[in-house]
Amino acid sequence: MKDKKGPDPRIDLDQVPRHVAIIMDGNGRWAKRNGKPRSKGHEAGAREVREITEACLELGVSALSLFAFSTENWRRSKQEIDSLFNLMTKSIKRYSDQINKINVRLLHTGVLDGLPDEVVQDIQKCVERTRNNTAMDVCIAMNYGGRRELTDATRKIATQVQAGAMRPEDITEDVIAANLYLPGHAEVDLLIRTSGENRISNFMLWQISYAEIIVTPTLWPDFSPTSLYDAIVEYQSRSRRFGGRP
Ligand code: FPP
Repeated sequence: MKDKKGPDPRIDLDQVPRHVAIIMDGNGRWAKRNGKPRSKGHEAGAREVREITEACLELGVSALSLFAFSTENWRRSKQEIDSLFNLMTKSIKRYSDQINKINVRLLHTGVLDGLPDEVVQDIQKCVERTRNNTAMDVCIAMNYGGRRELTDATRKIATQVQAGAMRPEDITEDVIAANLYLPGHAEVDLLIRTSGENRISNFMLWQISYAEIIVTPTLWPDFSPTSLYDAIVEYQSRSRRFGGRP
């Protein structure tokens, strides 16, 4: 592995984060800054999803999680939500062709109930089509909220306790992890948030417990592969202690 050349000589390819999660923020501000309607910002954001997927794959990242639509995004205007879902259906179809060619598997996290039928069908088709791909996982968080995920997990566990299949003292961290939307999905090593907001916004609350967090002022549509490499260089300069001593 040592002599393997990566796209950026600053990056140690043996220490690449296994699971990168991204809060893709700033599409609206990018559009405003460029004198375009918000929908154009989201379109530019979707293009970036395709580029960053390829860049992660090239680096040897195992899983990439992308926050595409939160349970709180329903608070936006109907016009923006409609235009976002319109873009999602177009983008997912195109994305499906792209990732299938490069052996990437799509997973969905969140609640499909409540999403427009076409979006649900596109996600399900892409998940099905790519299910045997092995090069990398991309997890799309669509209609996702971290608190909702933990609430749903708690309900599943409570049902098992009520049925007598488990005692309260049997509930461990592993049991909780096994009842999340994607059991077995690795914890997040690196969480990137674009557009300078220092917030978690209800994203993967359980999975980011020991993630390194990098907030960049770059707006999502401007977040290039080089921005990703910069984030990984910073990640590799940090000492991860997981609560212990280095
Ligand atoms: C946040 O920017 C971005 C979103 C709510 C949508 C993100 C969706 C995409 C980039 C498309 C996803 C594509 C695929 C293939 C899944 P914002 O609108 O909150 O920006 P602002 O804070 O500047 O207003």
